[in-house]
Amino acid sequence: MSVAVVVVAAGSGARLGADRPKAFVEMAGRTLLGWSLEQILASAAVTHIVVVAPASHIVHARDVLDAAVMQQQPLTGEQLRTHVVPGGADRRASVAAGLSVLDERDGIVLVHDAARALAPPALFDRVVDGLRSGFGAVIPALPVVDTIKRVDAAEIVVETPDREQLRAVQTPQGFVREVLTHAHDEVLDEAVTDDAGLVERSGTPIHVVPGDAWAMKITTQDDLGYLAWRLQQL
Ligand code: C5P
Repeated sequence: MSVAVVVVAAGSGARLGADRPKAFVEMAGRTLLGWSLEQILASAAVTHIVVVAPASHIVHARDVLDAAVMQQQPLTGEQLRTHVVPGGADRRASVAAGLSVLDERDGIVLVHDAARALAPPALFDRVVDGLRSGFGAVIPALPVVDTIKRVDAAEIVVETPDREQLRAVQTPQGFVREVLTHAHDEVLDEAVTDDAGLVERSGTPIHVVPGDAWAMKITTQDDLGYLAWRLQQL
């Protein structure tokens, strides 16, 4: 089954406090979108890349995508398809915009946050392997190191879940395409914050594979500084 990756890069990144959308902020001389695409293109499994960009940055996103492909991917034409589409008002709408350009050739779809710019190729491959082994939905996740409390509206603790059973979820999240498109179409719950959350409500079992520290989400300037420092240590 062919693998499409929908890279959502249409967020503003307000918490980063930059003068441009987060995916176009630079780290170690390259945009976060450029870093994401470099990792994705290094995964041999991927045959279709859809970048979901802010409407104001479609041309910029196309330039970043073309440059990444030129630099790294010997595949052309039939072998690697690319799209750049404008995003929506929230992440879910941006994912839906990306899904709208997929077709029956795309048996598997991975949804990835451009904000997880250094998620390594091996992580993409691990998710794809899980799908190829027969699961309809596969997500990467790491054990939780902090104790997590659930609180009510008055900040009173109502529950302390068993930490051993908790996972911090990352992207890329992978799905058999119809599983994800059906969940997007059917599930109306607005509180869902990731694609697996939609699929979970539609009843499909979701398999968890080990995540990767490099796949941390860049939210603040501290995150950017930390990952830039880690890159220097390589
Ligand atoms: O804001 P946050 O970092 O949680 O967003 C996660 C990912 O979703 C980012 O890569 C961001 O660009 C993307 N996003 C999007 N469209 C939106 C909001 C977020 O593509 N409207």
